[in-house]
Amino acid sequence: MRDSIGTNVLHINSSARTGERSLTRALGATFLNAYRELAPETKIVSRDVGADPVAPIDEGWIAAAFTPPAERSEVMRARLRLSDELIDELVDADLIVIGAPMYNYGPPASLKGWIDQVARIGRTFSFDLSRGDFPIEPILKDKKLVILSSRGEFGFEPGGLRAASNALDVALTSCAHYWGVAPQDIYKITIEYQEFKDERHRRSLKRAHQQAAELALKLTSSSGLRPTARCG
Ligand SMILES: Cc1cc2nc3c(=O)[nH]c(=O)nc-3n(C[C@H](O)[C@H](O)[C@H](O)COP(=O)(O)O)c2cc1C
Repeated sequence: MRDSIGTNVLHINSSARTGERSLTRALGATFLNAYRELAPETKIVSRDVGADPVAPIDEGWIAAAFTPPAERSEVMRARLRLSDELIDELVDADLIVIGAPMYNYGPPASLKGWIDQVARIGRTFSFDLSRGDFPIEPILKDKKLVILSSRGEFGFEPGGLRAASNALDVALTSCAHYWGVAPQDIYKITIEYQEFKDERHRRSLKRAHQQAAELALKLTSSSGLRPTARCG
């Protein structure tokens, strides 16, 4: 059930490193600790797809999802149970926080599994060919998204050395409308240079944690500030 007092946060972790070595988990902790301190009534739901991956969708899932609810068999309903649970968590959230490491230039398979499970006709989007070239419309709205990422390399920001290889940001921002998030409500904080383990990485790490604390302050203040999505 939705809590009417305070913000409902859905925190998704997707690093396969489930302990202290994960930089995205540490960044998530910095952001959420600051957030909770500033807004103690915040309710946080954690979904750790890194530790407990969701299954990739398959033919049975697709058949069930595209069968009208009233016509679904018990087997079909069972196939969609996890998807329903994940979507319910999404529906309840005002703020979605995703720990998103870059794996092979895209999202970890566990996070892609979550993305596929929550993109559901009739629940997170509608489809109508009478809308012309844009038949898909999101159902959810008014949510904010914080993407906390880490990369071994660097230069994935627009215009950067490796911008063309950044399939992670594209995967997340392209699907954010299914989660009820408009482009102007996406915030990104990114750690870079992890594989270099040099001064540039230390600076990037320090800056990201500072940005996480500042973002918590911005989002818990009632200033109604609109973000400028950034990557880098
Ligand atoms: C399986 C795997 C694939 C990776 N692929 C990339 C990559 O394509 N580009 C990159 O810059 N870093 C890559 N990295 C480095 C990670 O993005 C980096 O270690 C990041 O800190 C991982 O997040 P975590 O610390 O939360 O586990 C990869 C790491 C792993 C383990």
